This record gives sequence, structure tokens and C-alpha cells, in this order.
Amino acid sequence: MGPTLALLLLVCGGYASGQLKNDRPNLVGPYHVSLQVNGRQYCGGTIVDDRWILTAGKCYNEYSKENSTAVVGTNNLQTGGTSYLIDRFIVHSRFQSKQFGIPHNIALVRLTTPLVYNKFVEKIEISDKHVPDNATLSSVGTDKSINMVKALPQEECLRQYHNTIMGPFVNVGNLCTVNPADQRPTFGITGSGLILEGKLVGVFRSPGLLGRYSYPNANTRVSYYHDWIQTTIANNSDEAAITGRPSVRN
Ligand SMILES: *[C@@H]1O[C@H](CO)[C@@H](O)[C@H](O)[C@H]1NC(C)=O
Ligand SMILES: *[C@@H]1O[C@H](CO)[C@@H](O)[C@H](O)[C@H]1NC(C)=O
Ligand SMILES: *[C@@H]1O[C@H](CO)[C@@H](O)[C@H](O)[C@H]1NC(C)=O
Repeated sequence: MGPTLALLLLVCGGYASGQLKNDRPNLVGPYHVSLQVNGRQYCGGTIVDDRWILTAGKCYNEYSKENSTAVVGTNNLQTGGTSYLIDRFIVHSRFQSKQFGIPHNIALVRLTTPLVYNKFVEKIEISDKHVPDNATLSSVGTDKSINMVKALPQEECLRQYHNTIMGPFVNVGNLCTVNPADQRPTFGITGSGLILEGKLVGVFRSPGLLGRYSYPNANTRVSYYHDWIQTTIANNSDEAAITGRPSVRN
């Protein structure tokens, strides 16, 4: 099945599965999360368990815990869906935001209360399999549509970054992608998921300055962090005090 047909099916599937309160179809999938501060989206994320959102390490900032919320169940940044409070924002211990390659660009966000699943709010399984070369992945576009991207063979990604300032930092923990049509990087929502066959395989990273026009997106490869994800969730599954309640957005 070509990317165009796959996209059409996903779009139609979204319509067929019903309408949200705000009459917008849930195009991007019920596991997609918008991380927001004061109603403004700063990153995306993906539901991996009833209290856990997987996102990028780069998404951590000074507001991350205190004032940010995870909005689920809507495609609309302003309305619909439900807003959950965050009580932990756990960035990989070897994440380095100032380093060119942004190594270990992965984080887990814990919600204060478990998500209530429904047809617009679901978790997705994380993949422990290596993504096949040239596989077509779905990713969330900046306009919250679905972008199809191509998984670049690792050798090809390393070759392109070789002799660049980022070269030494692109490694097995990265899943590189390009637009299949023109082989260029794609724009999207940092922290949002890359999906293959209904499983989460990557955490999207926007092209940086260096990557802006010619270099592939060096996303985070979820299978490489499979154990870190499982262990971090297990290590943080204490029943902390519930400090707030989710609120239904109008
Ligand atoms: C969070 O929001 C409150 C109320 O607007 C503000 O007083 C506080 O400084 C904010 N905290 C951070 C870390 O920005
Ligand atoms: C992936 O694409 C490259 C470049 O088009 C090609 O050389 C390679 O054989 C492809 N690999 C697979 C597994 O399709
Ligand atoms: C989980 O906890 C174990 C035991 O305290 C510790 O050795 C390990 O480093 C922790 N792993 C993570 C990813 O938090």
C-alpha cells in the first residue's frame, strides 16, 4: 500500500470512528497528546500507559511540572478533550540538551491521575523491534494532520551526518527519517510519536538549525530505550498523592 492510500485510510478511519465534542475527527490517533502551558502547545507526546506519556527530553522546561498539562482526546489545540495535570517529568539521566546531537532525547511524563480511556483516548504499545529500512512511518504534522515519513537506513543517516558537527552524536539511539517525496527533513511536533503498524517506534524531533534543509530528522529510536521506558515506569509506580483532577475542556 502506497503512502497516499495509507493516509486516505487513516483519514477515513478517523471520520468513521466518530466525532469529537468539537466535531473534529481524531485524525492523529487516540494515543496522541498535546503538552501545553497556559493553553499553548509546546510539545507533543504519546500515551504509553494509563499514567504515562512518552515525549522528548528536549520538551522539559521550567514549566514542565508546575504549570503544564497533558491534553488528550482532541485534535484541536484550543477546545475539546480532557486536560490532565503532570506530577513527574523524568528526563533520561544521560540526556544533554546543550550537546549538538541531543543524546538520549527521551522523557516520561507521569500524570497525577490515571487516564480514562475511550475511543479518543488510548495507549499505544511501544515497539521493541528494529524498524526496517525505508519503512513508512506516520508522524504528526505541525497542522495536526498525518505526515508519512520514511525511515532512513542507519548507514545512510550516518553517511549524511558524517563530517558535520553532529556526526559523532548520531548513533543507534537515533531513528532518522525524511520526507519520502524529496528526501528532506520534515516539520512536525517535537515529542510526538512515530508510528509503524500500530506501534510506537520513535519520538519525533524537529529538524534543528543544522538539519533544517539538508539533514534527516534524527529522532529518538524507541526500541533502543525499551528497557529504560519499562524500568522508569516500574520505578515510579508508587501511589503518590493525587494533587489535582483532570478537567474537561469546553
Ligand atoms: C505557574 O503559574 C503561576 C500562576 O500563573 C505562576 O505564579 C508561577 O510563577 C508559574 N510557575 C512557573 C514555574 O512558571
Ligand atoms: C532502501 O532504499 C535504498 C535507497 O533507495 C535502497 O538502496 C535499499 O535497497 C532499500 N532497502 C530496503 C530494505 O528496501
Ligand atoms: C530503577 O531502580 C533500580 C533499583 O533502585 C535502579 O538500579 C535503576 O537504575 C533504576 N532505573 C531507572 C531507569 O530509573
